[in-house]
Amino acid sequence: MSQQTKQDRYAEAAKEIAAVLEGESNLIARMATVSNILHHAFDHYFWTGFYLVDPEKPDELVIGPYQGTMGCLRIPFGKGVCGAAAATRETQLVEDVHAFPDHIACDARSESEIVVPVFDGGGALIAVFDVDSDEKAMFDEIDRAGIEGILKASFA
Ligand code: SME
Repeated sequence: MSQQTKQDRYAEAAKEIAAVLEGESNLIARMATVSNILHHAFDHYFWTGFYLVDPEKPDELVIGPYQGTMGCLRIPFGKGVCGAAAATRETQLVEDVHAFPDHIACDARSESEIVVPVFDGGGALIAVFDVDSDEKAMFDEIDRAGIEGILKASFA
């Protein structure tokens, strides 16, 4: 897929997500919609979903709505790529997950990934959004911009 096609596809997905979410305030419904639409928009998305900050254990992530193979249920802040995104509150772009310290292999086929922190309107971290590919180096700055824009529009 060309970079232009990828950018266009993020723009189309953003429009579709905004249309479906119009008037829906439930957080799980919103997260399920984002993971479903993005997962089916791109061939390089192998696993797509949210890990939520657990209100009962605020330094732990717990699985939320996702698409793909079975995901790990819980990830402590600071562990693996998702834990790093939660702890630093910054997007993690990882070309080779096997080279990432502490990477958690929920599915051994995962080779590269992007994890983006999700903030509410008040700027509090509520979740991270994790996309894994079964090929190396499948995510770049276009994915980052596309995903960050959709998450901001959907949750902030
Ligand atoms: N790869 C992630 C774990 C979650 S899953 O792969 C679904 C990580 O290291 O954070």
